[in-house]
Amino acid sequence: MTFRNNGDLQPFEKKVWLSSPTMHGDEAKYMMEAYDTNWMSTVGKNINVIEKEIAEFVGVKYAVALSSGTASLHLATKLAGEKIYGQPKPNEGTLKGHKVFCSDMTFDASINPVAYEDGEAVFIDTEYDTWNMDPKALEKAFEIYPDVRLVVIAHLYGTPGKIDEIKTICDKHDALLIEDAAESLGAEYKLNGKWIETGSIGDYNAISFNGNKIITGSCGGMFLTDSREDADKVRKWSTQSREDAPWYQHEEIGYNYRMSNVVAGVVRGQLPYLQEHIAQKKAIYERYKEGLKGLPLKMNPFDPDKSRPNYWLSCLIIDEEAMCKQVRDDNKAIYIPEQGRSCPTEILEAIASINAEGRPIWKPMHSQPIYRSHAFITSKGNGRGQSNAYIDEGKATDVGMDIFQRGLCLPSDNKMTAEEQQKIIEVIKMCFR
Ligand SMILES: Cc1ncc(COP(=O)(O)O)c(C=O)c1O
Repeated sequence: MTFRNNGDLQPFEKKVWLSSPTMHGDEAKYMMEAYDTNWMSTVGKNINVIEKEIAEFVGVKYAVALSSGTASLHLATKLAGEKIYGQPKPNEGTLKGHKVFCSDMTFDASINPVAYEDGEAVFIDTEYDTWNMDPKALEKAFEIYPDVRLVVIAHLYGTPGKIDEIKTICDKHDALLIEDAAESLGAEYKLNGKWIETGSIGDYNAISFNGNKIITGSCGGMFLTDSREDADKVRKWSTQSREDAPWYQHEEIGYNYRMSNVVAGVVRGQLPYLQEHIAQKKAIYERYKEGLKGLPLKMNPFDPDKSRPNYWLSCLIIDEEAMCKQVRDDNKAIYIPEQGRSCPTEILEAIASINAEGRPIWKPMHSQPIYRSHAFITSKGNGRGQSNAYIDEGKATDVGMDIFQRGLCLPSDNKMTAEEQQKIIEVIKMCFR
């Protein structure tokens, strides 16, 4: 039997979300403080406090509060471009004419800033151990494009990637590293025997306070660095690049990217609850792991000796032999139901039928229409055009597309009760009957 909700399973009255904001009360207090003191602006105490607190927590010297994680990644990318290639003309990006190695299986906000800066993203395939950038593919990419000097990595769903190997490769090739820790605030990695926070590992780092993240400001993000000079530069760029003059004097292109003091009030109220949220998300991950035991699938993996994820999203990947046929085009998906087998499309539909929200895995960037003409490198080399009409080499898919085809994100909201989660587990089990 495959899943068919004939009405036996009543939908949740209140939707169970993938990951929604969880407020605790203090957020309103700090927002009101901004209001009452009239610091309804992009300056104020909330901003100063969270910049200090986040920098201390993550273990970097400087944090600059910005309007979003995307803005933080943009300025990190621009800064890296300027450091490597110098200041461009005002109508040109800092990466014009240059390639940048980028995580492939991630949200496009990680890597779009390369295009904002006129650079060309080269996508690096994913590994199965942590679902992040494959160091072997990165090494291959440096063999093919030895001149590249910048690498952008993301830690998917709150699980740190293979940082040790990636940092070593970047050092060997004299490349700067941008770390997109938007999804992984609070996740730790053991580097050279010492546990450190994600967001402190790259040369320039970014986090996000988007509404669905482990803690939120409703929106917002931060640029993190150990360099005072770089932090000052980002602060200047984010407030329209004013020079020191009595009037508005501009030597550089500027942006309106600074965080609002009201948004910072929400972040300030959330930060004390970060560890509580992580513990709740970890419990969700473990309940799924236990509840789904015996089914032909695995949870999103991590290396417990080297990493402590923040468990932002619980995900699963179906064993190859337990996949029913599933086809996806650019907008829709269909599948052929089959006894004992399932696929992400069926499971996502089943979960939706009881009023809960799951999500497909991030569709790899190299397969996105907008980036189809960009290079893609796997551990074997060029990842484009690898099948041959005249030679049967079995499957010719890459790791990222394979995880995208077989994986999905499960409802991971920290307000979901154990009973609600049990019902979701039951629905998933039904898909494999
Ligand atoms: C991996 C990743 N990078 C970047 C972003 C962008 O952050 P923001 O939404 O704050 O711009 C997000 C989430 O939204 C993300 O998941």
